[in-house]
Amino acid sequence: MADLDDIRDGDNFGLNSPADTSKFYLKGMNSMGWGLKNRMSRIFNRASGRTVMLAFDHGFLMGPTSGLERIDLSIAPLAEHADCLMGCRGSIRTMIPPENTQPVCLRADTGTTILTEMNHNVLLGEEEMVRMNPSALAAMIAVGDAATEARTMANFSRLVDIGNKYDIPVMCVTAVGKDMARDARYFGLASRVGAENGASIVKTYYTEGFENVVACTSVPVVIAGGKKLPEIEALEMAYRAIECGAAGVDMGRNVFQSEAPVAMIKAVGAVVHEGMKPQEALKLYESLKAEG
Ligand code: R5P
Repeated sequence: MADLDDIRDGDNFGLNSPADTSKFYLKGMNSMGWGLKNRMSRIFNRASGRTVMLAFDHGFLMGPTSGLERIDLSIAPLAEHADCLMGCRGSIRTMIPPENTQPVCLRADTGTTILTEMNHNVLLGEEEMVRMNPSALAAMIAVGDAATEARTMANFSRLVDIGNKYDIPVMCVTAVGKDMARDARYFGLASRVGAENGASIVKTYYTEGFENVVACTSVPVVIAGGKKLPEIEALEMAYRAIECGAAGVDMGRNVFQSEAPVAMIKAVGAVVHEGMKPQEALKLYESLKAEG
C-alpha cells in the first residue's frame, strides 16, 4: 500500500493540452476493441462527440418518484429524443417497447432503498445483463463511504471484467456520501477511481473547477442533473459542464419532472450537441413548450 503521508493535491492538469483523439473520436478509447468502440459510437454522437442520456433508474431505490409513476407514459415518448436510455431491467423490459432502437445503458447493480441505509448493492447476473442487449452497463461506486465503498468497488471491478469479456462499455456512477464535500477535489478523486478501475464512461456531478475533474479522468465524463432546477439553471449547468469538456449529460429529473419534458430534452440536446447558449436554449424550450 502506498504511504499515506504527504498526499499532495494535483495542480498540473495540462488544461491547454487536450487528450489525443486522433485515432478514435472518444477520449481514452484508442486501445479498446471493435465491439466496445462500436457500442460507444451508438451512444456518443459522431459529429459532436457527445451524448444526451436519459436517466430513469431512480425507481429501484426511490419507488415511483415524481415523473416516473408511469414510465410507459412519461419516458417511452421521450426515448426518440435521447441518445441513450439509462434504466433498470424491470422498467426497460416492461415499459420500453422492444422496437426501440435507441441504445440502452443498463443499470447493472441494485440493492438497498431509501427506506434503509442505501448503497449496499449487488450485481445482476452476467447472462441476464447480456440478454438485455445493452450498449453500456452502469454501476455505482460510493467513494469515501466507509460502509459501502469496498462492496461497491468490488461490484464495479467485477462489472468491468464482464464488460471487457463482451466488449460492453461500463459506466461508473459516482455516488456522493452524505459526509463528502461536493467539490472538484472529491469528484475528481471519485471519477479518477472509476476510470482507473476500467470505466469507459464516468458519470458524476458538475461543480466549480469541473475542468480539472474532466482533465484528470481518462475517459468521457457525463454529468447527472441532480434535483429538479428551474429550466434555465439546468441549461446553464449543462452549458458550463460542456464548456469544461464534459462529453454530455445523463439527466433524469430535470427532464422528466419538467413541465414540458420533450421541449426540455430538445433544449438540453441543443446545448450539448450544438453548444447553444443557455438563454437561447431557454427560448427554444419556451417555444417548443408553447407548440405543445
Ligand atoms: C444515480 O445512482 C442514478 O444514476 C441517478 O438516477 C441519476 O444520477 C439520476 O439522474 P438525475 O440526478 O439527473 O435525476
